[in-house]
Amino acid sequence: MSEHIPVLVKEVVDLLDPKPGDILLDGTLGHGGHSRAFLEAAGDDSKVIGIDADEEALKDAKENLKEFGDRVTYIRGNFYDVPETRVTKELFDLGIGSHQIADEARGFSFSAEGELDMQYGPHADLPDSNIPSLNDFARKIGHYPNAHELVNGLAPLALSDLIRIYGEERYSGVIANAIVAARPIDGAKKLAQIIADAVPKTYEHGRIHPATRTFQALRIAVNRELEVLEAALPKAVEILEEGGVLAVISFHSLEDRIVKNYFREQAKSCVCPPEQIVCTCDHPPTLAILTKKPITAGEGEIEKNPRARSAKLRGARRI
Ligand SMILES: C[S@@+](CC[C@H](N)C(=O)[O-])C[C@H]1O[C@@H](n2cnc3c(N)ncnc32)[C@H](O)[C@@H]1O
Repeated sequence: MSEHIPVLVKEVVDLLDPKPGDILLDGTLGHGGHSRAFLEAAGDDSKVIGIDADEEALKDAKENLKEFGDRVTYIRGNFYDVPETRVTKELFDLGIGSHQIADEARGFSFSAEGELDMQYGPHADLPDSNIPSLNDFARKIGHYPNAHELVNGLAPLALSDLIRIYGEERYSGVIANAIVAARPIDGAKKLAQIIADAVPKTYEHGRIHPATRTFQALRIAVNRELEVLEAALPKAVEILEEGGVLAVISFHSLEDRIVKNYFREQAKSCVCPPEQIVCTCDHPPTLAILTKKPITAGEGEIEKNPRARSAKLRGARRI
């Protein structure tokens, strides 16, 4: 098992403020690092409901958390399907775990010899993509596409849109054309090389691998990560007890923007159009924001765990 080092553990625990009797919904259980810290801090009668789409991650979490016995409930599934049960605390530590990057067969990493899969797990049901051509493509092939199918089957313009919108990649058109010209593409490493050959040699001045943004875009598209997050946040707030805390760790600006905007919207006591002088909406705020600015990792943590560099933690209390 390749171990995942959880980020911002102390900060998450401080924010969630574990108490005896707490029930934590951990929507992205991974290897259970955050859940362990929570259970230890909350004491004996606290519980965790842990969800992960990835069967392997869940197996490892069961091993890592076995001392907590039936205080942990394990659910294989997507946090988009928020369970219908009341909880007092919630954590979503978004995206990919080191355990998945290390697994060559999954195709998440551009140095991997494996196939281009990039699914966290089998999808029972997912929301529509914000990019209509991706929904059309899924309908055409009759299932949610994996990265191999997107790379080898999408029309050039749709592929360019995917890379630009989900990867914020300025060379999306150049990369999409190079991919289409090189089809069929049968592995992660080959795709990464095609991208590296297509972009200018000065790409981002060597700060990141030239394929980073395209791989991020594919992963987001395959798992509909942004749409799942958008749909899951209101459902998560719905099941959170009054006074309970929701914490979200994001790793790129697209995710963080969704969380920030959702928290802001829910913290407002009026959502009337700005030109309206008298409030008629009667909108009750559902959240109080606990983090004016996102909490980020210190230099010490980043040195030990470079993945922490892009982590942003936001929290809000249910009111
Ligand atoms: C960053 S890791 C979480 C690590 C975890 N906090 C720990 O301490 O080990 C993210 C995990 O969330 C899972 N995941 C990502 N999106 C998901 C979703 N929509 N539903 C369920 N699990 C998801 C991934 O499979 C991965 O194992």
